[in-house]
Amino acid sequence: MSQVAVEHATTIQNLMTAYKGESNARARYIAFAVKADADGLQGAASLFRAAAHAEKIHADNHARVLKQFGGEPTDGVNPVGVNTTLENLKTALAGERYEVDTMYPGFLKEATETKNAAAMRTFHFALEAEKAHARLFQEAITLVEFGPEDSWVDKARNFYVCPVCGYTSETPEEHKRCPVCNCLWKQFDVIR
Ligand code: FE2
Ligand code: FE2
Ligand code: FE2
Repeated sequence: MSQVAVEHATTIQNLMTAYKGESNARARYIAFAVKADADGLQGAASLFRAAAHAEKIHADNHARVLKQFGGEPTDGVNPVGVNTTLENLKTALAGERYEVDTMYPGFLKEATETKNAAAMRTFHFALEAEKAHARLFQEAITLVEFGPEDSWVDKARNFYVCPVCGYTSETPEEHKRCPVCNCLWKQFDVIR
């Protein structure tokens, strides 16, 4: 192991954990999107697809940093358990909350303490994007529970995903630039 890899051993471990978490979240959301379409909740399906796209961006960002430090990304995707769309949304929200409240703040703190700027950046991007995911999943849960008719959850719709940091928005233009990474809004990916 190189000197750099020894100094950043914990950060590398955290990057690996985050990479696996993102890869699994992506696999879950792809499966949940298929189920949401089957349940007639096409807007929820659109949200799952947008979140899956963002998690891929996070996984790729983490993998890039991992490789810089001599780590080898291995995703180890687990089989996905698919339930009703309401339950799937709750599973998604719980995952996002764990990342927002516990995982990414801890990883960000450790990377900051060891002055690993590349890891700080990728953890910060993911943390901020997961906050948007948590908010959107919470909104979808409320709409499904209290009547999805005539709300965005039962119609396919666009979501806008930053190609750099994965920040996810329901509006076509929130700002001129991504509020997290400053990427130009016109470069955002449109996911339906
Ligand atoms: Fe993510
Ligand atoms: Fe997420
Ligand atoms: Fe961004």
